[in-house]
Amino acid sequence: MNYTKEQADQYIQKNQVNLVPDFRLTYHLMAEYGWMNDPNGFIEFQGQYHLFYQHYPYDSRWGPMHWGHAISRDLIQWEYLPIALAPDESYDSGGCFSGSAIEKDGKLYLMYTGHVVIVPEVNYIQTQAIAVSEDGVRFAKAPQNPVIGTDQIPAGSSKMDFRDPKVFEHGGRFYTVLGSNDEQGNGQILLYRSTDLLHWEFVNIAAESHGDLGDNWECPDLFSLDGRAVLVMSPQRVPAQGDNYRNLHSTTYMVGQWNEETGVFDYDSYHPIDYGFDFYAPQTTLDSKGRRIMIGWMDMWESEMPTQQGHGWAGAMTLPREVLLEGERLRFQPVEELEQYRVNGYEASELRLDGVLDLPITGDSYELQAVFEAKEAVEFGLKLRVGGEEETELAYHPAERLFRLNRDRSGIGPKGERRTKVELRQGRLALRVFVDKSSVEVFLQDGEKVMTARIYPGLASLGIQVYSVGECRLESLHKWDLLAE
Ligand code: FRU
Repeated sequence: MNYTKEQADQYIQKNQVNLVPDFRLTYHLMAEYGWMNDPNGFIEFQGQYHLFYQHYPYDSRWGPMHWGHAISRDLIQWEYLPIALAPDESYDSGGCFSGSAIEKDGKLYLMYTGHVVIVPEVNYIQTQAIAVSEDGVRFAKAPQNPVIGTDQIPAGSSKMDFRDPKVFEHGGRFYTVLGSNDEQGNGQILLYRSTDLLHWEFVNIAAESHGDLGDNWECPDLFSLDGRAVLVMSPQRVPAQGDNYRNLHSTTYMVGQWNEETGVFDYDSYHPIDYGFDFYAPQTTLDSKGRRIMIGWMDMWESEMPTQQGHGWAGAMTLPREVLLEGERLRFQPVEELEQYRVNGYEASELRLDGVLDLPITGDSYELQAVFEAKEAVEFGLKLRVGGEEETELAYHPAERLFRLNRDRSGIGPKGERRTKVELRQGRLALRVFVDKSSVEVFLQDGEKVMTARIYPGLASLGIQVYSVGECRLESLHKWDLLAE
């Protein structure tokens, strides 16, 4: 099939009426129609936020990748623009894979991976390409493409996995980091340098796994934050470490130093970015307010996605999260723009809990904040999207300092439990929870840890409960519906 942007736009317009709305989110970005995976080209350009995404409009499953495109003034309410890239050249016939955006001389440049299939599932070629736009809407692929070819892959790195360029400017030069591996089971990040975005030289292997952090690294992102260098990436098939890295694929960050001359990024330790089920391939941008903002794909490869059964769509983005540095660790906060969408506020405080309490509030698209004082309780928490046999459980066990997100009874779709250690602060646990139709994002202790999951409850499962086993005190509870349709 020969794909074009126009044909994709027409297909979306024509088929949109067939979308089944049941699990469509209210204040998160999804594809207008069809399939979505990674966020791409996240940038603020001429006063608007632009977010592109891996997109296959013709099915609710992955297919030859296009770049979908949406813009927003506040990161919450998005407007769809025409398809930005279609796989219409010999060097990207298998898909316009993930990449990033940068502004140069007032123009918007996209840098992406051209994927070409040689033998399906067995052999492929990946090179890097550029597309340019004056107006931020219509993009023309550069005649010089590909701008980084397979001949520029260093000896010892994969000849096939060479993708997801994240481009940035530093000291008057452009750099790009690319995901790869050493063909011996270790993920790698390759670093290239350029003065014009069209001619690139290999600098070095910026970082690599030493047996413990996955066999291939995808979607790297290298940026500075409060004077430190931060590397974010998505390692595949990381062996579990205790409660961590229990998903098939993971995301991690490292805080360290980056040497711009040697290109090497040094770090001491790495940590998961998200402790839930559905978070992958995040990308960040620095906005004009000086915020480093991260958005991830709110799904996971090879995980069941119920909307693929006749709903006409699959895939969503997480909330935009501000990235903050605290010592050697990152903390994540949903962007403050969300607060403008709060309606129907509800507040409760000073409740003595011992058992299950049905709250006089319901919902499927809301923000909920709760501060618990553990007291004598052996377990306490929240039950969300409660109805009939269904509930999604957020539970804390003070003795083990353990927090659990359990979706075994969340409805249809994937099940399971993720766990993570969280310390109480002055005997208290603060939760900030965002529920949106088929998602839940939990910010623990002011974003010290985040857990993200897709859930697919029945439409009537709207109840909200607080509970404890043994006595605890619910110091405060706030709830707002969030409306951004
Ligand atoms: C990550 C990823 C990228 C690739 C894209 C293809 O989710 O596998 O490495 O560019 O998806 O859609």
